[in-house]
Amino acid sequence: MSAIVAMDAGAADVLPLPVKAGAENRVHAKKQAGAKNIVSRHFDKAAQSYQSGARLQQQVAADLLALLPEVTPQQQKRLLDMGCGPGWLHPKLKNYCSELWAADLSAQMLAEAKTLNQASCFIEADATALPIPANCIDSIFSSLMLQWCPKPADVFAEFHRVLKDNGCFYLSTLVTDSMAEFRQSWAQVDNHAHQLKFLSAAQVLAAASAQGFVCQSDIRTYQLFYPDVQSLARSFKQIGANYVAGRSDSGLGGKKRWLQFAKAYEQFRTEQGLPLSYQVLKIVARKSR
Ligand SMILES: C[S@@+](CC[C@H](N)C(=O)[O-])C[C@H]1O[C@@H](n2cnc3c(N)ncnc32)[C@H](O)[C@@H]1O
Repeated sequence: MSAIVAMDAGAADVLPLPVKAGAENRVHAKKQAGAKNIVSRHFDKAAQSYQSGARLQQQVAADLLALLPEVTPQQQKRLLDMGCGPGWLHPKLKNYCSELWAADLSAQMLAEAKTLNQASCFIEADATALPIPANCIDSIFSSLMLQWCPKPADVFAEFHRVLKDNGCFYLSTLVTDSMAEFRQSWAQVDNHAHQLKFLSAAQVLAAASAQGFVCQSDIRTYQLFYPDVQSLARSFKQIGANYVAGRSDSGLGGKKRWLQFAKAYEQFRTEQGLPLSYQVLKIVARKSR
């Protein structure tokens, strides 16, 4: 662990998952490996196509970035981009800190981020088990990662541990009723889950408060439009979002069911195309105790 803080700010290295000993930690490592295998496999595959498909992510990250306070050149501020993806936001995030660290579950996403050479430290890790010492980060920026984490409380506990006193996190995540058109169209075809299960804003905020954060938040609807369901499915694949927990077959189903889904989705068509709406919760939270 201490290797991280001792790192030269100019040395861009990918740090491995933390190595721990003992039975308890072997279970922990196994669980972590399981999560990594499923979610990170999708994001690994999408690392190179991500940016061209990430329309929602770009809009949301720009709005979240606007909430960050400016820093003066004299201020020493270490900022962690948690769930950084391919690091496309790093040139901008650099304006809000004196030192940028980047962390992600996906090695391929980190490899892409590393090519930009904006962060001083690249950490391959699960947000619920960060190989980062306590009380050493001034701010955490995390855009659209949390909905991939089944237990937000565990993520917030790690944020609380690594943040300095009075440190803040700036986070966006998807909440209940996101992708309603998609869900309602599939509901006319079968009873399977075809998308992530989103928590309510109240659940996410309660999890953050319970870990000792004072939160300010807002929810906004973002809407994207697609010419047809094929391009919608293609965009999920481009960004690695074509994974649904609990389904070994994350594909969108057989041809017949797919045609039924496409027909059902037509009920939502507008002049701009087929809409897909996301409910995005943004939180600015301060570590208070
Ligand atoms: C939708 S992308 C968002 C990337 C970037 N923040 C953006 O706004 O474009 C989600 C990212 O979170 C990462 N991720 C998902 N679950 C994670 C976890 N448990 N720990 C760390 N990173 C995770 C994925 O590998 C992926 O790069």
